[in-house]
Amino acid sequence: MLPARKIGHGNMMKISAKFLLFLLFFFIITNLYADSNKTKPHGDKSNLPKGCASCHKGHGEYNTPMLHESRKLFCFRCHGHSQNIEKTKKTGDLAMDIQEKDLQGEFDKAYHHPIEKDSVHHFGETLPEVDPSLPRHVTCADCHHHHYVSNDNKTAGIKGTNRQGMKTETVNVQYELCFNCHSYSANLLADQTNKAELFDAANPSFHPVVSSGKNSDVPSLIYPLTTSSLIKCTDCHNNDDPLGPKGPHGSKYEHILSKHFNISDGPEGISEYELCYSCHNRNSILGNESFPFHDLHIVISNISCRTCHNPHGSTQNAHLIDLDNISIWPSKSGQRGFIDLGPRAGECYLNCHGKDHDPAVYPSKPSTSSKTGTPSSSRHPSHR
Ligand code: HEC
Ligand code: HEC
Ligand code: HEC
Ligand code: HEC
Ligand code: HEC
Ligand code: HEC
Ligand code: HEC
Repeated sequence: MLPARKIGHGNMMKISAKFLLFLLFFFIITNLYADSNKTKPHGDKSNLPKGCASCHKGHGEYNTPMLHESRKLFCFRCHGHSQNIEKTKKTGDLAMDIQEKDLQGEFDKAYHHPIEKDSVHHFGETLPEVDPSLPRHVTCADCHHHHYVSNDNKTAGIKGTNRQGMKTETVNVQYELCFNCHSYSANLLADQTNKAELFDAANPSFHPVVSSGKNSDVPSLIYPLTTSSLIKCTDCHNNDDPLGPKGPHGSKYEHILSKHFNISDGPEGISEYELCYSCHNRNSILGNESFPFHDLHIVISNISCRTCHNPHGSTQNAHLIDLDNISIWPSKSGQRGFIDLGPRAGECYLNCHGKDHDPAVYPSKPSTSSKTGTPSSSRHPSHR
C-alpha cells in the first residue's frame, strides 16, 4: 500500500484496521448516498463518471482515505485552475462537458481564507476551538462536506454554532458556519473580535445579520432593503468579481470584502466606500438626511465611515458608533463616548486630531436639559 520505509509493524496493523473500516463504511455510504444523488453533485455520475472511484482509489495518497491527491490539493483536481481540470478530465474522473469554476484562483488572491496553512484538523473536533494554544485553521472541508454538498445547500452535512455559542447539527443560517471559527474560539487572534457578541440582538445596534436591526429610521437604505431586512456575512465578505465563483474564499480587497472599503481616513469618493454605498444611498448620506454632519466629516474632513461606525455591531452604542479607534482620544474633560438623544440627535465626547468635542451635539447647539447619562466609553484608545 505505502512505501515500507514509512511504516513500522504497528502502523501496518493500524492501516489494515483502517482499511477494513473503510470497506465497511464503503457499503454503508454507497447505500446512503445513492438515494437522492441528483441534488448531490458529487454523487451524480453525469458529473463524476466513475462515481466513488472518481475521488477514491485503491492506492491513495499517504494518510488520506485513499484519495487521489493530498487533502490540500484534492478539491482543486476538479475545482482548480483549468489545467488541473483538463488533467482530471483526461483520467475520466470528471465528465468532459463540465465547466467547473476556478476556485484555486480565489485562494491565490491577496486576501483569502488561509487553507494553505498546515492545520491540525480532525473530524469530530470541537469548534469553536476550546484550546487557546492550537493554531487557527480552515480548509474546504470545514465549509463543504465532501459527500453531502448539494447545489442548493453548499454547506449540507456541516455542523454550525448558534448565536449562544452552542453546537447545531446543521448550518441552518449562514452565520452559524462562520461562528464555528469567528465567535467564541479560544484561539481568536488579538486583532479579531467575537462576531456572535457584536451581532447579539441585545446590543444597542448591529447590522441585521442575526436578527433584524434596532433602528426603524434608516433613510439611506436602497430599495428593496428596509429596516426589517436581514443580510448575510457574504453580502460583505465575498468574491470581488461578481462573475467569479461566489463565496467568502478570496478577494483582492483586504478582509475578503466583496467591494472596496477604505478603512483609513482619506478623500471621499464613490469607490472609497463602495461597499457601504451598495446598500446605503450616497446622496442620502452626504445630504445629511440622518446625521447632519456626515458631509462635514466625510467629505470636508476626509474621515472614514470606519472611524465612527463598526461594520458589525456595537455592544455599547446606538447607530453602530464605535470610537475605539487609533485616531480618537478622550476630550479635554477626559471623556470618550457617544450618547444617543433619540431620533437623529446625539452628542459626542472625544478629541480627534486636535478637534475637541466636549461635547459636540446634534442636531442643535449644546443643551444641558436633555442629557440622559454619561458617555458610554472613556477607555484609553487601543489599536483601532
Ligand atoms: C468528490 C469526491 C468524492 C466522492 C465522489 C466520494 N468521496 Fe468519499 N471522501 C472524499 C473525501 C475528500 C474524503 C475525506 C475527507 C477527509 O478525511 O479529509 C472522503 C472520505 C470517505 C470515507 C471515510 C469516512 C468519511 O466520510 O470521511 C469513506 C468511507 C468514503 N469516503 C467512501 C466513499 C464512497 C463509498 C463513495 C461513493 C458512494 C465516495 N466516498 C465518493 C471524497 C469523495
Ligand atoms: C472528481 C471531481 C471533483 C472533486 C475531486 C471535487 N468535486 Fe466538487 N463538484 C464536482 C462537480 C462535477 C460538481 C458539480 C458542478 C456543478 O453543479 O456545477 C461539484 C460541485 C461542488 C459544489 C457545489 C457547487 C455549486 O455550484 O453548487 C461544491 C461546493 C463542491 N463541489 C465542493 C468540493 C470540495 C470542497 C471538494 C474537495 C473536498 C470537491 N468539491 C471535490 C467535481 C468534483
Ligand atoms: C455590512 C458589511 C459587513 C457584514 C454584514 C459583515 N462584515 Fe465582517 N467586516 C466588514 C468590514 C468593512 C470589515 C473591515 C473593517 C473592520 O475590521 O472593522 C470586516 C472585518 C471582518 C473580519 C476581520 C476583522 C475582525 O473584526 O475580526 C472578520 C473575521 C469578519 N469581518 C467576519 C465577519 C463575519 C463572520 C460576519 C457575519 C457573521 C461578518 N463579518 C459580517 C464588513 C462586514
Ligand atoms: C448588504 C447591505 C448593507 C451593506 C453593504 C451595509 N449596510 Fe448598513 N445597514 C443595512 C441595513 C439593512 C440596515 C438597517 C438596519 C436597521 O434597521 O437597524 C443598515 C443600517 C446601518 C446603520 C444604522 C444602524 C443603527 O442601528 O442605527 C449604519 C450606521 C450603517 N448601516 C452603516 C453602514 C456602513 C458604514 C457600511 C459600510 C461599511 C454599511 N452600513 C454597509 C444594510 C447594509
Ligand atoms: C470559510 C468557508 C469556506 C471555505 C473554506 C470554502 N468555501 Fe466554498 N463556499 C462557501 C460558501 C458560504 C459558499 C456559498 C456562497 C453562496 O452561495 O453565496 C461557497 C461556495 C462554493 C462553490 C460554489 C460557487 C458558486 O459560484 O456557486 C464552490 C464550487 C466551492 N465553494 C468550493 C470550495 C472549495 C473547492 C474550497 C477549498 C479550496 C472552498 N469552497 C472553501 C464557504 C467556504
Ligand atoms: C474552520 C474555521 C473557519 C470558518 C468556518 C470560517 N472562517 Fe473565516 N477565517 C478563518 C481563519 C483561520 C482565518 C484567518 C485569520 C484568523 O486566524 O482569524 C479567517 C479569516 C477570515 C476573514 C479575514 C479576516 C481578516 O483579518 O482580514 C474573514 C472576513 C472571514 N474569515 C470571514 C468568514 C465568514 C464570512 C465565514 C462564514 C461564511 C467564515 N469566515 C468561516 C477560519 C474560519
Ligand atoms: C463623524 C462620525 C461619522 C462618520 C465619519 C460617518 N458617520 Fe454615519 N452616522 C454618524 C452618526 C452620529 C449617526 C447617527 C445619526 C442619528 O442620530 O440618527 C450616523 C448614522 C448613519 C446611518 C444610519 C442613518 C441613515 O442615514 O441611513 C448610516 C447608514 C450611516 N451613518 C452610514 C455612514 C457611512 C456609509 C459613512 C461613510 C461614508 C458614515 N456613516 C460616516 C456618524 C458618522
